[in-house]
Amino acid sequence: MAKPRSIYVCNECGYETAQWQGRCSSCGEWNTLLEEIREKKSKSKGEKSKPSRRAGYGAGADDTPVRMASVEMQTGDRLLSENEELDRVLGGGFVHGGVVLLGGDPGIGKSTLSLQVAGMLAERELTVLYVSGEESLSQLKMRGERLTADVDDVLVVGETRLGRVEELVEEREPDFLVLDSIQTLAAEDLTSSPGSVVQLREVTGTITQLSKGLGMPTILIGHVTKDGAIAGPKVLEHMVDTVLYFEGQAGMNYRILRAVKNRYGSTNEIGVFEMRGDGLHGVENPSAMFLAERPKGAPGSVVVPVVEGTRPLLVEVQALVSATQYGPPRVTTVGVDQNRVHLLLSILEKRAGLKVTGHDVFVNVAGGVKVSEPAADLGIALAIASSYRNRSVAEDAVVFGEMGLTGEIRAVTQAAPRLMEAQKLGFRRALAPRSNVSGVDAYLEGNEKALSELRFEGVRDLGQALRSAKLVDGSDVDGSD
Ligand code: TYD
Ligand code: MG
Repeated sequence: MAKPRSIYVCNECGYETAQWQGRCSSCGEWNTLLEEIREKKSKSKGEKSKPSRRAGYGAGADDTPVRMASVEMQTGDRLLSENEELDRVLGGGFVHGGVVLLGGDPGIGKSTLSLQVAGMLAERELTVLYVSGEESLSQLKMRGERLTADVDDVLVVGETRLGRVEELVEEREPDFLVLDSIQTLAAEDLTSSPGSVVQLREVTGTITQLSKGLGMPTILIGHVTKDGAIAGPKVLEHMVDTVLYFEGQAGMNYRILRAVKNRYGSTNEIGVFEMRGDGLHGVENPSAMFLAERPKGAPGSVVVPVVEGTRPLLVEVQALVSATQYGPPRVTTVGVDQNRVHLLLSILEKRAGLKVTGHDVFVNVAGGVKVSEPAADLGIALAIASSYRNRSVAEDAVVFGEMGLTGEIRAVTQAAPRLMEAQKLGFRRALAPRSNVSGVDAYLEGNEKALSELRFEGVRDLGQALRSAKLVDGSDVDGSD
């Protein structure tokens, strides 16, 4: 056996060095280097000469190359959780052998959702193993009793030793595995403490191999750090197939499940849940929920149909513009990109003559939704203009469109589904890119009535949009036409 070798690993980014340093030279964090004894290395080298009992990391059971044509595709092979929101975020259910990393703040509902899924699968006579390293089995049972899903047949074990979990999985060959949480599991032959980078990597690597080998979908629950990343290095996100984040706002009962990485589906997809006394319930009409508390007729409030993944969603963008009292003007945003707002402010000033400099600007997407698509540009700009002019945008109107630097309004994708969603929720007008009109007409061909209750007002540029929304009078705008 080789002499134990001591190395130092950064707990933030996973950087390794032979010499201790006060500050990680990779990520620049102070005091994050922890000593690791690498005894494991030499052992696993020895193991390699023996045929491995596990499948390789890359899911292939065989190490000889084959022609792509002869690869058997396991289609129709997804395991549906029958939880509609979750299945959609996953891209159509769990993939056999796929590992899902589920992150989120403590108390957000990671264990609840996982246990619900476990229960629903067990009801279908699948073998489900739930490894709890955080809660005692009786706590888990108490939670299970509250849920609508029947968790009686879920196999549970309170275990923090990775080796034992491995044994259990190989013994029972479950159809589905939940590890709650990866931060509590540890490989006994590594000296570092549970939750350290080396342990997280080992746990994730081992579990990934196990899952691929057995074709068993796995949920790994992970905690997030203060700044919102899953505790541990980014490396973990690369090792798993899917990374889901559970988000929510303090004091609100709904939760948003977001895919940030998905090898088997879209990453913009979101699922919306409501936490009730008996667990998490999918929200059927999230737009209605996000708009429930909208102050009608208030200046600074604009409804924007955004498309998250495959689904249109109406959100309320709010802006507040007020003269800066002291110090340099500030731009504060929640849910939209700050740089984008800076850009829109410049366009408003330059192309529409709105003197927004010297003002503090706040932009917020109500309900904790994050909007990243440029299709929200026009909505954000109108919200800002609306607050600045202290005039409200018609409460039955939705607004969308990407804005270019000259103030031109550019076409967006999926205009028709956005309009349909707006109509469904009772909106009667849409200020949207003129260049989308023909596309929408083509989409509706043969079904012209589909948008009969909504008036599509195509706009070419910012000036025209501001006038249509009655935020400026003809003479206010200079240089826009
Ligand atoms: P939990 O799933 O334990 O969160 P996590 O595993 O992400 O830390 O969620 C716990 C919270 O959810 C707790 O505040 C109680 C609440 N809750 C309900 O409101 N209804 C329920 O049916 C359950 C099980 C929990
Ligand atoms: Mg938990």
